[in-house]
Amino acid sequence: MKSTTQTIPEHTSLPRHIAIIMDGNGRWAKKRFMPRVLGHKKGLDRLFEMVDYCHQIGIRNLTVFAFSTENWRRPEEEVSFLMGLFMKMLQEKVRGMHQKNYRLKVIGYRHRLSTQVRELVEETEQLTANNTGITFTIAVDYGGRQDLLQAVNQLLQTGVKEVTEDNLREYIALGNEPEVDLLIRTGGESRISNFMLWQLAYSEFYFTDTLWPDFTDKHLDEAIQSFQLRERRFGRTGEQLPPEEQRPD
Ligand code: FPP
Repeated sequence: MKSTTQTIPEHTSLPRHIAIIMDGNGRWAKKRFMPRVLGHKKGLDRLFEMVDYCHQIGIRNLTVFAFSTENWRRPEEEVSFLMGLFMKMLQEKVRGMHQKNYRLKVIGYRHRLSTQVRELVEETEQLTANNTGITFTIAVDYGGRQDLLQAVNQLLQTGVKEVTEDNLREYIALGNEPEVDLLIRTGGESRISNFMLWQLAYSEFYFTDTLWPDFTDKHLDEAIQSFQLRERRFGRTGEQLPPEEQRPD
């Protein structure tokens, strides 16, 4: 897609699928002597802007880690604030995103969400299922290992004799979407924290100290530019790549 503002670089080889671990909300708030939860609120506002920007520059899939299977261990007040934010988002923002032609998906364990949230998630996915704009996926109560385990168990129930990449992929979250090209983690940590273990197998990683609420469209441009300088060999040697995929030394 052609850029529409001066700030957007020419995205020659855009990642089709970007995943983001939105870390640093708590520290962003602490630096301002605010309660941690206000960092999450600010983080959610930033997220909405980021989805619009990704859609605008032609990213096909954006997947964000909003709540991990391990995040239940956080103080109860913070957990219920995050769940409340998620519900408010589903209630207040989905219609607007639908009008913009976004397709919304939620991955993770659904049975631990409240009935109301689960119903809202189902309605949202049905409402936006046939949209053709960006696919925006929110990972809630999600863990990469748990995702693999549930996929294997579902597959075994079909009675297959052998687990293969192709038949397992059918049961893995987003298995039929393009694999993640670029993983971004904000907030200064360099780990993937049990995020999409299967889907990140060949992703390029981009770690930045910028805290999630401070991560602007310009920061995303920088991450994409860094991605565009990588040589993705997928097991081959650099010399085997077609000239347009080779990067200068
Ligand atoms: C990690 O920052 C962030 C999270 C665990 C939650 C991310 C959530 C949002 C960006 C907004 C909410 C979105 C939805 C859809 C519910 P942290 O709290 O670990 O930050 P810290 O490392 O600075 O403490």
